[in-house]
Amino acid sequence: LLRGVLTARAAGLTSAVAGAADARVVVATALIDDGRLLAARRTRPEALAGRWELPGGSVEAGEDEADAVVRECKEELGADVEPCGRLGTDLPIDAGLLRVHLARLRPGSAPPQPLDHSALRWVSASELDALPWVDADRAVLHDLRAALP
Ligand code: CDP
Repeated sequence: LLRGVLTARAAGLTSAVAGAADARVVVATALIDDGRLLAARRTRPEALAGRWELPGGSVEAGEDEADAVVRECKEELGADVEPCGRLGTDLPIDAGLLRVHLARLRPGSAPPQPLDHSALRWVSASELDALPWVDADRAVLHDLRAALP
């Protein structure tokens, strides 16, 4: 049985075998620079297009969450970021669990570009509420406000 479980894990079939404990994890990046937070406007799926999110995506099999944050920010923003800890609690989403990681730009990083989004915006604490966030991200606004000056 153990061997079967390990094989299934390797094949990425964990949810069927092990249940919710191994739910898919999506990381979201609270990238803060100069006292403001980077918000990104989604292009897909249609139901979420135009809503704002913290950039991120699915953690790959065997990948560290912090490494996934670095990879996603490189892919989606063309930026080099340094993760610096979790923010808030796990948030349930349709795809599994969303975990927010704080991050800062590494010295010498290119400025973030909307390579995968329709727009980027640096927002201050007082501007957070007004953006139409995707639902899961809205749930972390309280913690985000506390992380901003
Ligand atoms: O393409 P990939 O699976 O890597 O990532 P994604 O499509 O950006 O995100 C996977 C799921 O997480 C989607 O259902 C998103 O709506 C959700 N998500 C979210 O709720 N908030 C974020 N900041 C990022 C993703």
